[in-house]
Amino acid sequence: MAMQQLAEGWRVAGECIAFVPTMGALHDGHAHLLREARRQGSRLVLSLFVNPTQFGPTEDYACYPRTLTADQVMAEACGVDAIFMPQADTIYPETYRTFVTVDRLTDHLCGPFRPHHFRGVATIVCKLFQIVQPHRAYFGEKDFQQLQIIRRMVADLMIPIEIVGIPTVRETDGLALSSRNRYLSAAQRAQARAIPRALFAAQAMATADDPPEAIVAQVRATLASAQITQIDYISVVDPETLAPVTTLDRPARLCVAVQIGPARLIDNVPLG
Ligand code: PAJ
Repeated sequence: MAMQQLAEGWRVAGECIAFVPTMGALHDGHAHLLREARRQGSRLVLSLFVNPTQFGPTEDYACYPRTLTADQVMAEACGVDAIFMPQADTIYPETYRTFVTVDRLTDHLCGPFRPHHFRGVATIVCKLFQIVQPHRAYFGEKDFQQLQIIRRMVADLMIPIEIVGIPTVRETDGLALSSRNRYLSAAQRAQARAIPRALFAAQAMATADDPPEAIVAQVRATLASAQITQIDYISVVDPETLAPVTTLDRPARLCVAVQIGPARLIDNVPLG
């Protein structure tokens, strides 16, 4: 495969390969990852691949935004050396049978709501790592569970790649940037503002030693006041195991997933 050969050549020449995997529809959050990767590597690879195995049968695979021309402009502006853009049947031919599953971490948060999602994510990231052979790979904290699952996979399978987590990039009103925000109408976009408002208030509550139970109740009430009622979860979890915690005697992570109209939105913040 051409990408693999390019990477092998770079490695032989002593280059340090930095890699940012994405599904395209690039926004400033992705640009942030690319800029950080550009700074830390001598060669920068971006992948654009809407990975079919991480979408459920009723999810938005078919209509996931595809904005190739704009993505190429952003890639160039961020100093990308190579864009890897495989076809789905090259990655998953008819004969394809091998998947990577990460146990336990997938029992929590989005796992139960998106049954094969993280199997699809771990599998594609593992395959991309074999092809791009990076020294470092960059992932956003916006998808906190994904980041922790990739960290676990790399440690468990002894993959010699450093995983770098990048803090969430937000709009000026606090909403986390996401390719799925473009599904929102103006009214739904205004409702979504309640998500960061609830999370930032939760951080203040944690600083004031309020317990997880009170924090979750505040988040639920703030979301309800914006008529956000389709809530998959509001959870305070251990950042390593992703299991719920009932006290804040150690640093924790507050994670939420809600549905607003056509968009399923996730967000999270550190507590403590
Ligand atoms: P995608 O949703 O395109 O996101 C690509 C990377 O950008 C992920 O690491 C994600 O966490 C990060 N990202 C998205 N929004 C961000 C924001 N507002 N601030 C900071 N980082 C942000 O995540 C995926 O694609 C896929 O699951 C993938 C890992 C590519 C596997 O298919």
